[in-house]
Amino acid sequence: MGSTRDARRAGIAAASSVVDGIRTGIRQKVSRRVQAALYTALMTSTREQSMWRRFLSGVAVAVAITAAAFVVRGAQGQEPQPLSASDIADGMRLYQQKGNCQACHGWAGDGRKTDSQMPDGANLRDTKLNRSGLVMTIKCGRLNSQMPAFDKFAYTDGRCYGKTQADLKSYATRMPDPPATLQQREIDLIADFLIAKIVGKGPMDRAKCVEFWGSETDACKEFPK
Ligand code: HEC
Repeated sequence: MGSTRDARRAGIAAASSVVDGIRTGIRQKVSRRVQAALYTALMTSTREQSMWRRFLSGVAVAVAITAAAFVVRGAQGQEPQPLSASDIADGMRLYQQKGNCQACHGWAGDGRKTDSQMPDGANLRDTKLNRSGLVMTIKCGRLNSQMPAFDKFAYTDGRCYGKTQADLKSYATRMPDPPATLQQREIDLIADFLIAKIVGKGPMDRAKCVEFWGSETDACKEFPK
């Protein structure tokens, strides 16, 4: 009987740690009455029940509680995550430095490139692309244009428009090499920065410039007060 008791104890311990997790972590999400009922069902198994039935009911309650916790967590996972200021700052830094997007698109994304030797980039403030369109364009570049592909494997396995390196030769305008390749996470951060600070924000002016940089920088002097 000792092993049965141990197994039962383990089952109840597992169940009550889940209960504790629910009680502390997602207290507001699971109604208190449901919580109380489950807890009572677990803790007050009657004397007449065999060890095994008590063990199995403990396991069943643990499974039910875990399933409930997953449902709650799944529902939370679908809510859009608010962007943190530090993610946006990271995206801005990647846009300016590693991606050097500003060389062709300008620091404000308005198409006033910072490097006169570079091709004229699109005005990203006016783009009609949504977030996934932005991500796709950054990863794959734009065929037959001077917008480079930043995904290292863009034209190796057909992931971009179903094309490979060999197919690219048929276009009149050759896509330039990117200043650096970017990880998916970096591309996501740039897309989030673009949406937060560039896309649909209208032409740059003094107030927007100060807001963009966080202070009256030299870059803002060109805009009248
Ligand atoms: C070498 C210059 C160059 C660099 C560097 C560059 N781009 Fe581009 N980009 C272009 C050009 C040129 C176009 C216009 C392509 C076309 O003709 O459709 C473009 C188009 C785009 C578009 C599509 C806009 C639209 O509305 O269709 C997005 C988005 C974009 N670039 C984002 C970026 C981002 C983000 C970076 C940095 C990670 C970057 N670009 C780096 C040259 C560049």
